[in-house]
Amino acid sequence: MRSSPLPYFLILPLFLIQVSCLDFNFPNFQREAENHLILSPNSYIVSGAIQVTPDHNGASMANMSGRALYNKRFRLWKGSEGNATIASFNTTFVLNIQNRTSPGGEGLAFIITGNSSVPDNSQGRWLGIVNSDTNGTSDSEAGILAVEFDTRKSDDGDLDGNHIGLNINSINSVSQVSLSDFGFNISRGLDLWVYLQYDGENLTVRVNDTLVLSEPVDLSLYLPEEVFVGFSASTSDEIQLNCVKSWWFSGTDIGEDGNLWWVWVVISAAVLTVLTVVLVCYLYHRRGTIDDDMEGGRGNIEDEIKRSGSGPKKFRFKELKQATANFSRKNKLGKGGFGTVYKGSWRNKDVAIKRVSKKSNQGKQEFVAEVTTIGNLNHKNLVKLIGWCYERRELLLVYEYMPNGSLDKFIFCNEKASREECSTLNWEQRLTIIQGVAQALDYLHNGCQKRVLHRDIKASNIMLDSEYVAKLGDFGLARTIQEKEKTHHSTVEIAGTPGYMAPETFLISRATIETDVYSFGVLVLEVVCGRNPGNQSEQKNYNNSIVNWLWEFYKNGKITAAVDSRMEAELVEKEAERVLVLGLACCHPNPHYRPCMRSVLQVLSGEADPPEVPKERPSFVWPAMPPSFTHMDYSLRGTQLTPFTDLTGR
Ligand SMILES: *[C@@H]1O[C@H](CO)[C@@H](O)[C@H](O)[C@H]1NC(C)=O
Ligand SMILES: *[C@@H]1O[C@H](CO)[C@@H](O)[C@H](O)[C@H]1NC(C)=O
Ligand SMILES: *[C@@H]1O[C@H](CO)[C@@H](O)[C@H](O)[C@H]1NC(C)=O
Ligand SMILES: *[C@@H]1O[C@H](CO)[C@@H](O)[C@H](O)[C@H]1NC(C)=O
Ligand SMILES: *[C@@H]1O[C@H](CO)[C@@H](O)[C@H](O)[C@H]1NC(C)=O
Ligand SMILES: *[C@@H]1O[C@H](CO)[C@@H](O)[C@H](O)[C@H]1NC(C)=O
Ligand SMILES: *[C@@H]1O[C@H](CO)[C@@H](O)[C@H](O)[C@H]1NC(C)=O
Ligand SMILES: *[C@@H]1O[C@H](CO)[C@@H](O)[C@H](O)[C@H]1NC(C)=O
Ligand SMILES: *[C@@H]1O[C@H](CO)[C@@H](O)[C@H](O)[C@H]1NC(C)=O
Repeated sequence: MRSSPLPYFLILPLFLIQVSCLDFNFPNFQREAENHLILSPNSYIVSGAIQVTPDHNGASMANMSGRALYNKRFRLWKGSEGNATIASFNTTFVLNIQNRTSPGGEGLAFIITGNSSVPDNSQGRWLGIVNSDTNGTSDSEAGILAVEFDTRKSDDGDLDGNHIGLNINSINSVSQVSLSDFGFNISRGLDLWVYLQYDGENLTVRVNDTLVLSEPVDLSLYLPEEVFVGFSASTSDEIQLNCVKSWWFSGTDIGEDGNLWWVWVVISAAVLTVLTVVLVCYLYHRRGTIDDDMEGGRGNIEDEIKRSGSGPKKFRFKELKQATANFSRKNKLGKGGFGTVYKGSWRNKDVAIKRVSKKSNQGKQEFVAEVTTIGNLNHKNLVKLIGWCYERRELLLVYEYMPNGSLDKFIFCNEKASREECSTLNWEQRLTIIQGVAQALDYLHNGCQKRVLHRDIKASNIMLDSEYVAKLGDFGLARTIQEKEKTHHSTVEIAGTPGYMAPETFLISRATIETDVYSFGVLVLEVVCGRNPGNQSEQKNYNNSIVNWLWEFYKNGKITAAVDSRMEAELVEKEAERVLVLGLACCHPNPHYRPCMRSVLQVLSGEADPPEVPKERPSFVWPAMPPSFTHMDYSLRGTQLTPFTDLTGR
């Protein structure tokens, strides 16, 4: 999401350096090379080579001249004539001249010139270098330096029909040498490896590793500052094939001279503009992510998690994709409000992977809450969070895998399944589950450094491992209270699941220890009765709830009749009654009368009796009054239930 702009900063100057010097290599010539060459009408690429003069047999091969130049200019010198900074270059090319008629003609040359066009009437003896008009003129007209490979003595000035010469603005050579002296025959049809070096002072030519010519020459005196490099050749009545089979060139960069200062100004300005734009984009982007955070988007999730000092591992998206076989449908375990849960395999261990739905904007808060709360908790009755992943705008959580899924499947029955089919839990298992959840909640409320409110205790958030041990999961709504003395989490949002929410939730709009206890009470009643909590979505139809339903049984003195009929056989009635009364106590409409989780544990273990519960369900009144000393059993309350002192004024 936040890609670094750095690579662009680096590439740009490198790119600028690259264009200002000339470097190329053609190991051979394919059609594609035409894009890099300037070819005169008689020159073309065929058979992996440049045919500088045509290779067609017959009349068309006679009296031809041609040029093949690299299409980018090379900066040869800068400064003033005679006192210039001169570039140096090395070039190697392979020539092949064959199928000559006798005496053969005319030859081929390596040329450096400011004018890429082949001169008119430069066929025959002119080698495509000059014509009768420009021969011997000043550099402003001819403007060419050539290293000729002359295959015909067509002039008195020529040594022989097998020589190499250095020509400046003329067909006559400044210096020439016969290759016969070195045992080479240019037109014999053998490859000639020519290595040409100019060091700014001397021009040296080697043929097949033999130094054949070295001449001091100041190129700035005869040539324009920027030049083309390449080849020219010609035929006359006498013909031959003039081929260049490969070509490598490397020239130094002498930079730009003062006349081109504006180029640098333009380039600098362009670079500066790009940098500024990149910077502005970067800053804007950062701002964007900060705004994201404020709006509950998916900004600095990693920072938030790190700040909490969380233990769970950070996963790569790749790993999780692999673990779930690309989030395959057959690995799907379930779908919740915030995303989909998949079964996965990581290090030969089964894991459950929750993939938070991209659409859920709420997801981010829940995600961070979950990683930062349970990520740091360790309790046998809490689902263990193994890791998390935030990549490619994906939020994922990795938990230990619970082979038996969630509790709701065992206690509620959907219409399709018969009652017998959908429940396999006996009384002992149910009691163990209730105790497990109570221990988990006691740990959250009283046991760890920071008080944690779960805020969404319900059957579908209780997971069962292979031994049917209950593990409280889904901490998506959990909130940490920094100071343990505080009992509530201040937030104006109403969160939780209808049916499990204490009646005061709708009025105080916040989670407290007591609202968690209420949800736990509802859970106890469902587990024992095998009923779902009813449709209590608002305070008004609160009376339709399982709490109300059970209180009726209690009032009539036959509370055990409400117990799930599927476990009649093994039921210990006295135990069931204690647990149900405890459940009702937790669901007391007045939060001050609900027991704390410590007390709940004491009742479940038999150390204490359940709190006294009025036969008639008290009506819900608000503000709720703290219990008077006369009908309150403090031994059960402990010291956990703190008065809602801050509720005054509501
Ligand atoms: C080539 O040019 C020479 C001299 O201009 C001329 O005599 C000859 O006829 C020409 N050859 C062809 C084939 O055109
Ligand atoms: C040659 O140019 C340099 C600077 O590029 C300058 O210092 C020097 O005086 C010049 N010499 C002559 C002879 O012009
Ligand atoms: C040319 O070759 C010589 C010797 O190999 C080397 O020192 C020099 O740097 C080369 N010059 C260029 C422009 O490549
Ligand atoms: C060159 O000449 C030989 C015979 O001398 C011939 O076989 C070959 O095809 C010719 N090559 C070209 C490209 O004309
Ligand atoms: C380049 O050479 C062609 C052909 O000889 C000529 O017509 C043209 O004027 C020359 N261009 C320059 C800039 O000298
Ligand atoms: C070409 O020019 C040179 C002077 O650079 C001169 O000596 C020579 O005779 C000329 N050649 C022809 C064929 O005109
Ligand atoms: C030059 O060297 C090449 C490769 O080493 C070889 O094929 C070729 O025959 C040689 N040319 C001459 C004229 O000796
Ligand atoms: C070069 O080779 C060609 C073709 O084999 C031959 O006709 C010519 O006489 C040779 N030239 C020299 C100078 O040996
Ligand atoms: C150029 O050649 C001359 C004469 O051979 C020599 O004195 C000089 O050092 C050479 N320059 C370079 C740069 O090699």
